[in-house]
Amino acid sequence: MGGNLFVVNHPLIKRDLTFLRDRNTPSSSFRTILKRLTTLMAFEVTKDLDLMPKEVETPLEVTQGHDLKDEIVIVPILRAGLGMVDAFLELFPEARVGHIGLYRDEETLKPVDYYFKFPKNLDKSIVIILDPMLATGGSICAAVSYLKERGANKIKVVSLIAAPEGINKLTNEHPDVQIYIAVLDRQLNSKGFILPGLGDAGDRIFGTEN
Ligand code: PRP
Repeated sequence: MGGNLFVVNHPLIKRDLTFLRDRNTPSSSFRTILKRLTTLMAFEVTKDLDLMPKEVETPLEVTQGHDLKDEIVIVPILRAGLGMVDAFLELFPEARVGHIGLYRDEETLKPVDYYFKFPKNLDKSIVIILDPMLATGGSICAAVSYLKERGANKIKVVSLIAAPEGINKLTNEHPDVQIYIAVLDRQLNSKGFILPGLGDAGDRIFGTEN
């Protein structure tokens, strides 16, 4: 595994992951916990952001403070990435949001794209891709490639549950990208589902499972 993979290790993350894995967790709770877990991940994901000095006047005197240096662009992969957006927007109210619509063909497991909308100036921003599941890695690799074609050069991927197959593909194809996950699961099954995983995140967020 490459040096750009960070498995974020925290007791609250482990507890929340267990709620998400539980087949009996309803969509309403799933959404709440996914958002909370994303906030916990964000603390680590944003640890290396650059600061610039910012003078601030307290009620008593002027002192030197800080502001964030770089613009942030958040890019959820539809649909499941949408469940992670609000957590980042609360931390970065000024962030702009791009969307990438991708679904996996159930036979080939290859990503099929259906929607793209990005803000300008990707080349001057830190781009944070959100998708809770990194299975074969096809979707996130495609998203990274599209963003690079449009100028993005500082890219972070935030996922929650990853399979070794997907991590290998992503680190091989895009060794420059920083990858943050909550857990590396055991393997993919023959249908490309992560084991033990949590099922289909998009369906569980939006209540569309059969
Ligand atoms: C799931 C998941 C990821 C992708 C992961 O989305 O949310 O986007 O599959 O698989 P990969 O790493 O093998 O590409 P899905 O295709 O089910 O679409 P959905 O989010 O709209 O349900």
